Amino acid sequence: MTPRFTAGNLHRHSSPEELGKITRALRATGRKIAFVPTMGALHDGHRELLSRARRIPNTVLVASIFVNPLQFAPGEDFERYPRPIEDDLAVCEAERVELVFTPEREALYPPGAQVTVHPGPLGDELEGASRPGHFAGVLTVVAKLFNIVRPDYALFGEKDYQQLVLIKQMVRDLDMEPHVIGIPTVRERDGLARSSRNVFLDADQRVAAVALSAALTAGAHAGLDGADAVLAAARKVLDGTPALALDYLALRGPDLGPAPDRGEARLLVAAKLGATRLIDNVPVLLGAPALGERG
Ligand code: PAF
Repeated sequence: MTPRFTAGNLHRHSSPEELGKITRALRATGRKIAFVPTMGALHDGHRELLSRARRIPNTVLVASIFVNPLQFAPGEDFERYPRPIEDDLAVCEAERVELVFTPEREALYPPGAQVTVHPGPLGDELEGASRPGHFAGVLTVVAKLFNIVRPDYALFGEKDYQQLVLIKQMVRDLDMEPHVIGIPTVRERDGLARSSRNVFLDADQRVAAVALSAALTAGAHAGLDGADAVLAAARKVLDGTPALALDYLALRGPDLGPAPDRGEARLLVAAKLGATRLIDNVPVLLGAPALGERG
């Protein structure tokens, strides 16, 4: 049976006005706000974000749970996206979240709402090429949440690396206040990145899903030999897993511009297993370090 949520120090608010008033009042007393926006179905990746946020000194820990319709294209998994709200509240309580914001759809998108945030060219690449409008939906809800919560710090997982890069870009370009912090991906013991969508995988798909992180690891290990070797090593693993329908395998710079010849890069992958779309990425160091760069 699903455990019932019992209120301790966790306060739940669904009204943007109410939540905004509280966070503003807290800021006025000198406390800082550490914010973890989520779509719920909280797993160990979210717990890591919450635990890192909690450890920022002198902060109140605020989380939001909202499955944002604007970031799902028609035909995507908005309807079936998991919504275990009682479990999620229990996780928030265990992670000592003080305020959890659980708005209704109409409160964030009242009738007549028209204006959205345009992500720029990167919003149409990689994830954006397969999910048109996705990043406009993400940036719009994140901008709204930032305006309501007024966080000093906002934490996001590196698992959604393109999302993280675009949120940082939005904060820079639109002169927003929060300090955006990216947190490394939390993985299962076999390497699979933690994701709320992993629950959709059947037993065979769960086995096949490991090929994503295995491919990225193989690619990263080939970094010394350069970009072509990285892509070839990763592709070899993916090609050996016919259950995976590959969407993209891409090597980019850390800001998702073109990959440099040498130095820091990011290797990203997206694939479908049946109806479930999974993404993952890792940092890669390209090329041999020049003499004098070795420790
Ligand atoms: O990463 C997510 O869970 C969502 O994209 C976010 C940032 C909470 C916006 O809905």
